[in-house]
Amino acid sequence: MKHRGSNNDIDSDHIPVSKKPMLSAPGAAWDDPAAALASARHEFGEHGGVNMSIEASTTFTVMEPEIMRRIFTGELCPDRDFIYSRHFNPTVLNLGRQMAALEGTEAAYCTASGMAAISSVLMEMCSSGGHVVAPQTLYGGTHSLLTHFLPTVCNITTSFVDIMDHAAVGDAIVEGKTKVLYLESMSNPTMTVADVPKLSRIAHDKGVMVVVDNTLAPLVLSPARLGADVVVHSISKFISGGADIIAGAICGPAKLVNSMMDLHQGSLMFLGPTMNAKVAFELSERVPHLGLRMKEHGARASALATRLKKMGLSVIYPGLEDHPQHDLLKAMMNKDYGFGGIMCVDMETEERANQLMHLLQNYTQFGLMAVSLGYYETLMCCSGTSINSGMNDEEKALAGISPGLVRMSVGYTGTLEQRWGQLEKAISRMQEPGLFGKNSKCTERSMSVNRIS
Ligand SMILES: Cc1ncc(COP(=O)(O)O)c(C=O)c1O
Repeated sequence: MKHRGSNNDIDSDHIPVSKKPMLSAPGAAWDDPAAALASARHEFGEHGGVNMSIEASTTFTVMEPEIMRRIFTGELCPDRDFIYSRHFNPTVLNLGRQMAALEGTEAAYCTASGMAAISSVLMEMCSSGGHVVAPQTLYGGTHSLLTHFLPTVCNITTSFVDIMDHAAVGDAIVEGKTKVLYLESMSNPTMTVADVPKLSRIAHDKGVMVVVDNTLAPLVLSPARLGADVVVHSISKFISGGADIIAGAICGPAKLVNSMMDLHQGSLMFLGPTMNAKVAFELSERVPHLGLRMKEHGARASALATRLKKMGLSVIYPGLEDHPQHDLLKAMMNKDYGFGGIMCVDMETEERANQLMHLLQNYTQFGLMAVSLGYYETLMCCSGTSINSGMNDEEKALAGISPGLVRMSVGYTGTLEQRWGQLEKAISRMQEPGLFGKNSKCTERSMSVNRIS
């Protein structure tokens, strides 16, 4: 076995230089994200195992001092010449290749969380004085990052607009100052679907880059294929699928990823949002069955949303024909992955939202009251008092988050009929007079012993 960085390597023509794209997905024809993923390079284990080995080292040796100097000057390519795992690690790099293939981008870098991906990409793309245009309806953490942290700490400001009003988006862009149009492919929690092709054209015409958070719709939508420049993910959600790992990714042009990783200037180097190699290994094992899981999440959400709608409930799900962007989504989506696994039920008041969630968790065992999404069990939360609690009432109203909005991330355990029975039973129980009054049998105590195991 030849030690990497030997003298042979120094003189070899094969040493990729830093200007060469790193982490690139192979040039396979890209018609379906799952097909691209299957064509991505497969790493084998050190002893020929079908799974790759985990490279757990934080630091890497070189055979000659010259090699180290050349890595630090950027002359050698870190995707072969590893030096330190905050910068590059082969196991994390492998997950990066999978993410790049999944999103159809040249490169990808995996981070310790979705927020790490979002904050470091925005800090890289907008230096002090930079400006972002973003939708009024966004994941609460991102909304707070743009509203509070970035302006006060980094002098990066944001104008929030109605993303369906394309003229307003164009007007909000200040040429020369606006660096990023930030979108969510499907907004969390209101399930607004962004017209990525049109919005990208508006931004590009004014020299602005487009960053899309595709956390709610991996495989369902491929924003980079629709015109976006960068796709970010909270891998903690559907891609992980186990509600047991916090992780993120930035998928985009090699030039951007390389500059973020620059040893002397890159935001990833100095903010240090590094993914652990053991985490990257775990996640790499889950990416191949993401397609199967997304199909099932989508099929369940679609069936439940349709039936709830028929019962007369106010349901928001982009797979329903009456959703304002249903046709747009149909025109943009990859076939066979459904309309996504998230739906919202508007119970109008916080009290009714809480009653429904209590019954669904503690009386019928339909799902779990918890934030986050993409788990195999159904997760439910009242958005206004949880993930979006950082927004004031006016911001919530602009974002379309009513006080009774229950976001459901629909799981796929059990059978559809079993889960529908549980949902129906909870809803009819809500109509029983006096259930939540003083003499209610359904007290906090009786509920908590009834938790799903
Ligand atoms: C759409 C979206 N983006 C980003 C994040 C942040 O991801 P993480 O929790 O992995 O930091 C979340 C978390 O809920 C999210 O829903």
